[in-house]
Amino acid sequence: MRTGTTGPSGDRPTESIALALNGETVRAEVEPRLKLSDFLREECDLRGVRVGCEHGVCGACTVLLDGRVVKSCLVYAVQADGREVETVEGLADDGHLHPVQAAFHEAHALQCGFCTSGFVMSAVELLRENDDPSREEVKTALADNICRCTGYHNIYDAVEQAADALSTGETRADGGVLDCSAPGGCDCAGPAVDGPPAGYPTGAGSASGGSTAGGDAAADPGDPARGDRSTPGDDAEGR
Ligand code: FES
Ligand code: FES
Repeated sequence: MRTGTTGPSGDRPTESIALALNGETVRAEVEPRLKLSDFLREECDLRGVRVGCEHGVCGACTVLLDGRVVKSCLVYAVQADGREVETVEGLADDGHLHPVQAAFHEAHALQCGFCTSGFVMSAVELLRENDDPSREEVKTALADNICRCTGYHNIYDAVEQAADALSTGETRADGGVLDCSAPGGCDCAGPAVDGPPAGYPTGAGSASGGSTAGGDAAADPGDPARGDRSTPGDDAEGR
């Protein structure tokens, strides 16, 4: 993990922050305007945090802040000071996929993968609170995440499979180890999935993230970017 590589420039004021990031203490000097999403991607090199819309709509940037889902594009990095942040990179255990990750793979719940880490983090929060969610509860929990290639049914199936796996303690036959370099393996770490597919909501700054927040888009982060989840989508993909 690297920090400080795209840190403050010129005479702009900065603040010192320290946070527990995927179980590791991270300290950095950041401009108050820096979004958490950009801090995670650019300062900490956690590229599983996707940035699509940059204004709280798509859910690609979803992480857990003190165990609760937030849109990290709507949270300033300074707001994470003294708190715990979890990203998709922190889920695997010694190379073994988290049951939610394994279920997404098993259920073919992704295509380009751009949205996947956000869905996975939302599902992780749900299953920590509710180990046997109904289909409607799964839909509601994922209502703030948008996918533009897979369709939602396989994603819902994956969450239900993960719930079953967590309740029974069963793991995949291969122990959940995913060899990305094997024939037919995924390209989860590859650059091809760093940008959103056609039709995905993107912000004016950057499709794949990395733009420093101008500040305006991250306004009103007092309720850290937690959607109300009251309106599950109703789009052409059967959501
Ligand atoms: S919700 Fe944060 S990038 Fe879309
Ligand atoms: S798999 Fe969801 S946007 Fe491509």
